[in-house]
Amino acid sequence: MLAKAKTDEILPNKEAEESKDSQKKSKKEQKMEEPKTEEKKEKSISDLPGVGAATAEKLREAGYKDLMSIAVSSPGEMTDTAGVTEAVARKMINEARNSLDMGFESGADLLKKRDTIEKIKTTSEAFDELMGGGFETGAITECFGEFGSGKTQIGHILATNIQKVKDAKAPIAVYIDTENTFRPERIMQLAKGAGLDPEQVLKSIKVARAYNSDHQMLLTEKVEDLIKNGENVKLIIVDSLTAHFRAEFIGRGTLAERQQKLNKHMHTLLKLADQYNVGVYVTNQVMSKPDQFFGDPTAAIGGHIVAHASTFRIYLRKGKKGSRVAKLIDAPNLGDGEVCFNVTEGGLKDI
Ligand code: GTP
Ligand code: MG
Repeated sequence: MLAKAKTDEILPNKEAEESKDSQKKSKKEQKMEEPKTEEKKEKSISDLPGVGAATAEKLREAGYKDLMSIAVSSPGEMTDTAGVTEAVARKMINEARNSLDMGFESGADLLKKRDTIEKIKTTSEAFDELMGGGFETGAITECFGEFGSGKTQIGHILATNIQKVKDAKAPIAVYIDTENTFRPERIMQLAKGAGLDPEQVLKSIKVARAYNSDHQMLLTEKVEDLIKNGENVKLIIVDSLTAHFRAEFIGRGTLAERQQKLNKHMHTLLKLADQYNVGVYVTNQVMSKPDQFFGDPTAAIGGHIVAHASTFRIYLRKGKKGSRVAKLIDAPNLGDGEVCFNVTEGGLKDI
């Protein structure tokens, strides 16, 4: 309810809807194509009409390595990154989409896919229950709340507990730290509390400091390379998702540009979650809404873009006597609810 309330960050409805649409679309398209890509492997970028060697090179340099990357792109994005005209981009995208012959996935296939989803435990039984067993892989979970509400603590807990997820190969967590708040000592404490080998847990976390929003976006894109190089990345944490964006884009005039970049960033994360069954955990700050007289006068940064892209949304706040309250406010298959816990040395403790 909170996050859906109007904030001065909200884009015009049409734009928000469009972005929602394109997210849905690209998600679907990614799912649909999988079995077909194998058969049509021989087709490459240079087979697209009007793409000569020079354009193909330009596209590759811009990161368009195969037909799929073009098929799931948008004309605007291609114009920006590859320097082709919008008309050419549109034609290439259509052609790439046609040649990939995207089909539909049955509900049964999707259900089977849901079987591969893992649930990462939070160390609070009540919290896990609220989340339907834990934080899901293959989805983005967003926690937003004021400073000290426990967002970073939950990030550390998930980065530790991903080791408890049963997987043939040791899972890797990628921690993109924008605020210099990742603490290996804390991980060791939590690992001990969870009965895990602290050294082993630390070795399984790849931490990267992001110095600005572009750096943050680049690091996220690089996660795909890690996966392609055989790393078993099962969890990506972006803490904080919005702090750099908030600091770099000040004033109303910059809002559209900021939201566009955030949208692209969320897409990268969505794609990783969807294609590789990776759990994505992002933290988000809140801002005060001076025009709100009833209820909670705070709203999440990032507006509709972040809200729509996140599969699960949790609002964290400080409760009575040093406790913390987590409220699930958006989930595709779970009821809303609220749980209360303390942050302790070993993790979260139910009250
Ligand atoms: P911002 O990043 O500032 O927006 O806050 P945040 O939501 O990330 O807060 P964070 O997760 O850093 O929570 C900080 C709170 O967690 C502290 O106020 C402590 O109450 C608690 N905490 C942090 N570390 C420990 C610890 O090692 N042991 C215990 N018992 N509590 C801790
Ligand atoms: Mg924090």
